[in-house]
Amino acid sequence: MALKSCGYGILGMGMFAPEQVVTNADIEKIVDTTDEWIVTRSGIRERRKIAADEATSDMGLRAARNAMADAGVEAEELDLIIFCTFSPDYGCPSTACVIQDQLGIGGKCGAFDLNAACSGWAYGMSTAMAFLKSGMYKKILVIGADAVTRYLDERDRSTYVLFGDGAGAAVLGETGEDRGFVGQFLIADGTMGQELIIYDSGTRKKTEAQEAKSPYPIYMNGKEVFRFATKALGESLQGALDDAGQGLKMEDIDLLVPHQANMRIIDSAAKRMNIDPEKIYMNIDRYGNTSAASVPIALTEAIERGRLKQGDTLGLVAFGGGLTAAASIWIW
Ligand code: UT7
Repeated sequence: MALKSCGYGILGMGMFAPEQVVTNADIEKIVDTTDEWIVTRSGIRERRKIAADEATSDMGLRAARNAMADAGVEAEELDLIIFCTFSPDYGCPSTACVIQDQLGIGGKCGAFDLNAACSGWAYGMSTAMAFLKSGMYKKILVIGADAVTRYLDERDRSTYVLFGDGAGAAVLGETGEDRGFVGQFLIADGTMGQELIIYDSGTRKKTEAQEAKSPYPIYMNGKEVFRFATKALGESLQGALDDAGQGLKMEDIDLLVPHQANMRIIDSAAKRMNIDPEKIYMNIDRYGNTSAASVPIALTEAIERGRLKQGDTLGLVAFGGGLTAAASIWIW
């Protein structure tokens, strides 16, 4: 029996990567590291960096316009904008409201930011689907964008080499039952919140103990996040397959687009899940970890490169701060 969607799904995708390319050779001049260490430990060769006079919404707007053009959807048709980020332009207004204004549709639709760190866009897609499935809205723009380089410190080589900036976006709406969304699963474990943390970006002042652990804006316990990620990738994907029902199994996935944080995490999770590495789209070598932008950038590229054909089963999966993870299954 052919797989059926809920009748709603992705109408168009778009991405934006800042012009400035920062190679591992450039990074070698700034921090005590080597191209060899970065490539073997993470798979990253270069990443992009946002211009000094730009902010997260500037990247998000370009990705959104590309997604809307791909979908053939005008700004006036949007019922809701969800902007997924942990590096917003401001505490207030939300970056979604900034985008709504820039799209020239101020006052015409709902708009809010969503923070699930690197899982943000994957969480945003599930959120948007809940609005669509309930019949409340017809067309939703979901943007994932982060400017993580703004939080990096040259003295902390353990995080400095890993992150880059970028944005990706999807327009969601009615697709009919032969295409679209089939299932999702969200994970959050707040007990591990301190393992990946950005200090002084909210109302809680950094404590002396935290300062002693890391005098830098970001603290990441790489090994703990790595361990969580390899397990959570499989759990969330299996959860999404179970939610989809219809007898869907891991081997039915034709293309898996995972969060691009570390090549080794994906390799190890793929082995655990028994997924053929050929079915996994990776571009971490060119962008590094772009947080909430990583999955939509990778999906946009995968589509442009002809990696998806009509009727394929697509899996999206992400993990990150919170700690969080999220997965979803779609018929393309
Ligand atoms: O979006 C979600 C967010 N984050 C992640 O997914 C990250 C998950 N974790 C990871 O990707 C990996 O844990 C890292 C890539 C961050 C680190 O790899 P690792 O194999 O866990 O390395 P490590 O932290 O155990 O460090 C190994 C060594 C240490 O030296 P010693 O103690 O063995 O002498 C580090 O000081 O590598 C050293 N090191 C570096 N050396 C050169 C740490 N960072 C660097 C660096 N260049 N940039």
